[in-house]
Amino acid sequence: MILLTGATGRVGSAAARALLNAGVPFRVLVRDETKLPLTDPLIDVITGDIGDPQSVRRALEGVERALLVMGNHPDQAALERQFATLAEQAGVAHLVKISSMEAAEDASAVLPLNHYETEQHIVASGMSWTFLRPNFYMQNMLMYAEAIKRGGSFALPLGAAFTAMVDTQDVGQVAAAVLSEDGHAGYIYELTGPDLMNFYEVAERLGGVIGYNVRYDEQPPEDFRATLERFIASRWQLDAVCELFAEIAAGSLAYRTETVQDLLGRAPIPIESFAQRFAAVFDGDGA
Ligand SMILES: NC(=O)c1ccc[n+]([C@@H]2O[C@H](COP(=O)([O-])OP(=O)(O)OC[C@H]3O[C@@H](n4cnc5c(N)ncnc54)[C@H](OP(=O)(O)O)[C@@H]3O)[C@@H](O)[C@H]2O)c1
Repeated sequence: MILLTGATGRVGSAAARALLNAGVPFRVLVRDETKLPLTDPLIDVITGDIGDPQSVRRALEGVERALLVMGNHPDQAALERQFATLAEQAGVAHLVKISSMEAAEDASAVLPLNHYETEQHIVASGMSWTFLRPNFYMQNMLMYAEAIKRGGSFALPLGAAFTAMVDTQDVGQVAAAVLSEDGHAGYIYELTGPDLMNFYEVAERLGGVIGYNVRYDEQPPEDFRATLERFIASRWQLDAVCELFAEIAAGSLAYRTETVQDLLGRAPIPIESFAQRFAAVFDGDGA
């Protein structure tokens, strides 16, 4: 049995859809079943919290392979390490973790450092593992859809920095492939989209699809922080995101790989296809 965490989120739901399309049965551990974007007899749903060892043990019964992904949160590292320990105790053979491209022993920002240290915890557990390290998610741009609709522009503190942003559909599909095929144990896969772009190019290409000019404004880091403060209550998370964006502005995500092509046998999704899929969100005609 395969277990997915994060199945109500972006990567986990994409992995679920890919498994379903391949006819592979699986289980999900979700806090709120009504948030699951898909239902099917192939899906065994366990309701519970990653922070609750009892529900995690229940979800892990009979599981051979599991996907570990959760949103960034002050307790994320502790909860992911606890999940890995419980998985090892439950006899899980292979754990696939969503990490990040900047994960490294000497990472200076707390989010990638936490990912790296959780990876090391999994390596030490004795289970086999695969770590997926994605670049910037295209879906992050959806946070700016409202600003783009209202004023035709978005602002980020990223100067002219480049990323090779990746669609979370691709990340989820890679996760599903790694969970359902052999031969991925012990690999770290860095996942990017097809193009290295700065945000001026992102604006131009988004605008080309949604049918009006979109402008990118370079934002001073202090303005970014003030904007985020309106949405993020946790001081830890605010600091962590600002720190991460300072690293991206300094070029930490400015490289692309062929890994999605190699693993899925097709090119990664370009920003135009992402924008077409979410055109209704950007032009205000739907969600
Ligand atoms: N954003 C980027 O550009 C980027 C790039 C590289 C890597 N990453 C990494 O990607 C990960 C996030 O992936 P994502 O975007 O797919 O996440 P997401 O869309 O924010 O979804 C998070 C998922 O985790 C679940 N979750 C959170 N806390 C939980 C708990 N205590 N118990 C059970 N489920 C819990 C959520 O469930 P609910 O629906 O119940 O909340 C949701 O399904 C992070 O680790 C981040 O560092 C992000």
